[in-house]
Amino acid sequence: MQRVLTGIKPSGIPHLGNYYGAIRPALALAERADVQGLYFIADYHALTSVHDRAELDRLIRGIAAAWLALGLDPARVLFYRQSAVPETFELAWILACFTSKGALNRAHAYKARVEEAVRKQLDPDALVDMGLFNYPVLMAADILLFDCDRVPVGSDQLQQIEIARDIVGRVNHLYGDGVLHPPEGLCEDTALLPGLDGRKMSKSYGNAIPLFAPPKEVRKLVGRIVTDSSPPEAPKDPEASLIFHIYRLLAPPAETAALRARYEAGIGWGDAKAQLADLLERTFAAPRARYEELMAHPERIDALLADGAARARALAAPVLARVRRAIGIDR
Ligand code: ADP
Ligand code: TRP
Repeated sequence: MQRVLTGIKPSGIPHLGNYYGAIRPALALAERADVQGLYFIADYHALTSVHDRAELDRLIRGIAAAWLALGLDPARVLFYRQSAVPETFELAWILACFTSKGALNRAHAYKARVEEAVRKQLDPDALVDMGLFNYPVLMAADILLFDCDRVPVGSDQLQQIEIARDIVGRVNHLYGDGVLHPPEGLCEDTALLPGLDGRKMSKSYGNAIPLFAPPKEVRKLVGRIVTDSSPPEAPKDPEASLIFHIYRLLAPPAETAALRARYEAGIGWGDAKAQLADLLERTFAAPRARYEELMAHPERIDALLADGAARARALAAPVLARVRRAIGIDR
């Protein structure tokens, strides 16, 4: 049985790109019989960027409801909030004592913030708080607290996994092999889902289709995709069409083949857009209903997360006890 853990940062409303690139593969992994999944809401990581209390609260519940609505089974996967596992923060302090400042100086997110300050002719550290600087240490604690084998992440997160592995190396070198368990990053090379303007779909570009937007709004958003002025009966190259590109990444192969044939025979752009909007409606109608039901009953979300946290703490306690003993805090 391998332990697979990943953190979900509640920093935006989930969109199709998140579903395709992160949520769907993580749910598929959790289905495997040889995998014990730990998926948690990294709420204290979000605090590095979300400083509005109502907004943070809404994002935490929203992301939890989204994962549950899309099929995360809290009986199979440990699903919890990072903040409900206080062992994390004790381990984070211990790990900080074995993290070189140089390694954190080289972290991409920190460096980007320093470069931004320099561009704005500010003091290099003017835009940096210690939450951002220590972000990789907290992330290492999330992972190492559970002796995880694999950590599925986007390629932008691999550097943090390397930092966690370096910390393991240092601690085990000093206190003996087996005090901490080295994790491996698991980075699936999935294609990026393009957004309405053809760039990567991202909440920061304003080109995203939110997963649980009402069907009318989804149809309106799909309508914004820019097309050329060729007449409906003209044969069209599916490979050059953004509508087809998005459709293909989400549809079963037989439906993709059917739409391809229609492109080659000649399809009107309005029709092609309707096909994509229909696919989205079919795919997300049931999850949307579950999402709305959960958001109307936040106490159900909270109860599931609390149960997950209790089970997670039971796994974490012996790991933290082992580390405390190894370093000389406990006998
Ligand atoms: P955003 O770019 O909207 O801010 P995040 O950076 O919060 O999204 O991404 C959360 C997860 O979703 C990451 O694992 C990332 O790899 C994945 N993801 C985001 N956008 C896309 C996309 N357009 N295609 C595929 N995966 C994506
Ligand atoms: N840093 C991750 C992100 O920005 C979220 C995260 C926090 C995480 N702790 C983690 C991911 C531990 C994997 C393992 O999306």
